[in-house]
Amino acid sequence: LASTDVTLDHIAEGQAVTVMWRGKPVFVRHRTAQEIQEAKAVPLGELRDPAPDQERVQREPWLVVVGVCTHLGCVPLGQKTTDPRGDFGGWFCPCHGSHYDTAGRIRRGPAPTNLAVPEYEFRSDTQIRIG
Ligand code: FES
Repeated sequence: LASTDVTLDHIAEGQAVTVMWRGKPVFVRHRTAQEIQEAKAVPLGELRDPAPDQERVQREPWLVVVGVCTHLGCVPLGQKTTDPRGDFGGWFCPCHGSHYDTAGRIRRGPAPTNLAVPEYEFRSDTQIRIG
């Protein structure tokens, strides 16, 4: 399938879902107010792959990223609230220890770039189409 539709209304704040899109996992995360605030507060100069939070999201609570570590392609942990989310509250890649923040940006470890943001659009307030 070229595109994947995701319904958002069952994803509670702080929760996330994983959907498959073109053979890859895509993470859709409903960020908490604190997670958004943390993502926006980071000075760009501290980022390896600088991108402000507003360039990473279309609507503030919703972060949509390809769930493939940009180091060597493992699937990072952090989708479940019980998972380790790394030192920056986003995702942690256990393969070689990359830490991503609540905007999916690389913050520590060997990964060279942020988790990719796929092409997607809001079809309504409660549905996105990826691809
Ligand atoms: Fe994720 Fe190496 S594949 S840190």
